[in-house]
Amino acid sequence: MEKPAQSNYPLHELIARRWSPHAFTDQPVEPQKLGSLMEAARWAPSCFNEQPWRFIVETIEKKEGYERLLNCLVPFNQSWAGKAPVLMLSVASTRFKRNGKDNRHAGYDTGMAAENLTLQAQALGLAVHQMAGFDADAAREAYGIPEDYEPMAAFAVGYAGEPEDLEGKMAERERAPRVRNPLSETFFSGKWGQSAPGAEA
Ligand SMILES: Cc1cc2nc3c(=O)[nH]c(=O)nc-3n(C[C@H](O)[C@H](O)[C@H](O)COP(=O)(O)O)c2cc1C
Repeated sequence: MEKPAQSNYPLHELIARRWSPHAFTDQPVEPQKLGSLMEAARWAPSCFNEQPWRFIVETIEKKEGYERLLNCLVPFNQSWAGKAPVLMLSVASTRFKRNGKDNRHAGYDTGMAAENLTLQAQALGLAVHQMAGFDADAAREAYGIPEDYEPMAAFAVGYAGEPEDLEGKMAERERAPRVRNPLSETFFSGKWGQSAPGAEA
């Protein structure tokens, strides 16, 4: 299913067509494509080029690892993400390597890497659905994530299925239009809350 963004201005199709499906087919992700996703994340920009992101990657073929990550998700997310052939967890290093000080942009940079990965997935015909619904302490425990690293988001990755693959309300939700706040509430100029030129609509 396609759910392209309804935008006021033209968008690159990778951005317009990306969305977060709950339905995934059981088609595996080719290792070459998985490699491209990792490269895309790797080449994201970051504060001082610290590259604070780390990713845990589990594929459904390696059942034990896959289950380890799946079990960290909240039950609702387990119910649909457990069909995706690849699960990931992004983790941010919260201290600068260069001086040991707090890196207040670690989450920001890790999000940049996540979006790079997501758009690369879109370009390869794959879909990514990110999740905040996971137990960070359980992930820390399951993977031995050190204290100065912060689990950020889980990802389901694979080929999008169809809403009919889902049950009841989930199928309905899958078909719902994608919505966004207006540009006028998001882009300001002159003072806080005053729409930037071109963002009035
Ligand atoms: C950090 C983050 C956490 C999210 N957590 C969840 C989640 O736990 N479960 C879920 O079903 N969707 C989750 N989503 C998906 C969002 O609901 C989705 O991106 C948003 O509704 C916009 O829809 P779109 O991605 O299709 O444009 C999350 C997305 C992000 C970026």
